[in-house]
Amino acid sequence: MAQRETWATRTGFILAAVGSAVGLGNIWRFPFQVGQEGGAAFLVIYLLLIIAIGFPVMIAEFVIGRRTNRNPVGALQRLGSGTWRYVGWLFFATGFLILSYYSVVAGWTLRYVLLGLQGDFIADVGEAEAQFVSVASGLDALLFHAIFMAAVLAVVGFGVRRGIELAVKVLVPAIIAILVGLAIYSFTLAGASEAYSYYLSPDLGTIADNWRSILPAAAGQAFFTLSLGMGVMITYASYLGEDRNLAEDGGIIIGLDTGIAFIVGLVVFPIFFTAGVDPADPGAGAIFVTLAAAFGDLTFGWLLGAIFFATVAIAALSSAISILEVVVSYLVDERDIDRLPATLGIGTAIFVVGLPTTLDLVLIDLYDKLVNDILLVLGGLILAVFVGWIIYETALDELEKGVRDLGSMGAAWIWFLRIPAVIGLLVVVALGILGYYEFLTGDFADWIGDTI
Ligand code: PHE
Repeated sequence: MAQRETWATRTGFILAAVGSAVGLGNIWRFPFQVGQEGGAAFLVIYLLLIIAIGFPVMIAEFVIGRRTNRNPVGALQRLGSGTWRYVGWLFFATGFLILSYYSVVAGWTLRYVLLGLQGDFIADVGEAEAQFVSVASGLDALLFHAIFMAAVLAVVGFGVRRGIELAVKVLVPAIIAILVGLAIYSFTLAGASEAYSYYLSPDLGTIADNWRSILPAAAGQAFFTLSLGMGVMITYASYLGEDRNLAEDGGIIIGLDTGIAFIVGLVVFPIFFTAGVDPADPGAGAIFVTLAAAFGDLTFGWLLGAIFFATVAIAALSSAISILEVVVSYLVDERDIDRLPATLGIGTAIFVVGLPTTLDLVLIDLYDKLVNDILLVLGGLILAVFVGWIIYETALDELEKGVRDLGSMGAAWIWFLRIPAVIGLLVVVALGILGYYEFLTGDFADWIGDTI
């Protein structure tokens, strides 16, 4: 391998990590998870998990990456003994699967840019929902999946990541500005106060009754949105110099990512409550339906909407690149395949694996639940065990670099990984598997029955 690059600027790493974290997870996935899991009850659990598990696991990934300067497979092999290499493969498979449907959803956002430019947003929520269904499956979905994937391949294949690094600098503020504007618009709607109490005031009874489904959904969402559990943060930290304070960087990344998702909720729910739509109903279409309706309602909404969806598409691009980077860096570093053929070959395979999800939304669920409710949290569990119980001395030594005085923070970090993260994630993985089984024998079996 040629000499390894490091990030060009001090902020390069944070920008790239934020670019990876902020994406469809915050804007598309978060609101419909909240909607399906009962609003504020989900939000509280989600925030707790981000702090108690997401943050420590993120630092764990950073430490592994910076210590080894390798891709996830090589990194785990170097730090642990032989069998840890299989964990790298799990990351590889997870990344492969995520990107296959992520690209399809990102394709929807591209289609919505065109809808805006054509002046086709519909103010009526019911009609907007029908419009969403036609965008999300069939030929349209396939075509835009292809276009998005081609863009990802072009960026990763030619290694022009620096352009993305810069784009993130502009994009993240742009996303925040547009979302804040929309949140103010939503605040003026008739359904706003009902929506706020749904979204912001948790009911302990709901949590007690539904924790079996809230917990895996919230943990999966926390890992997905923070790009954790599949080696992205290992890979990005592997290009890092020793002067960074990893805990501080992690805090910034998590703060921005969580803040953006939170604001999306403030935009979406007032629109649903005003239109009298149950937030659980539109599922994966939530964001598209409500935003299209909001944009359809505003003067110049078409323009604002086109800008917004283009921004989301680019945010999705910077996330997709980080996923493909994990997969490609493994092929390049460990399998000695040249970068361009590795990218094109694996990219085509990912595109093909994503194709079924353009048939019906239930297939998006099929992939998305497997990834979020099982694979990412399993990856997180393994990382927590590995860093918390096995290489904790090395890990502490690595974290200390760049931090002036670690104090008791280091020990707290290791203990968070050892006990709450390991136990919490064990429960989550078990519940996730049960839930997925229910989905396979329920909604999915119904769909198969209807189709055949
Ligand atoms: N965090 C990204 C998002 O929110 C998705 C992602 C998941 C990226 C896992 C990398 C790894 O859209």
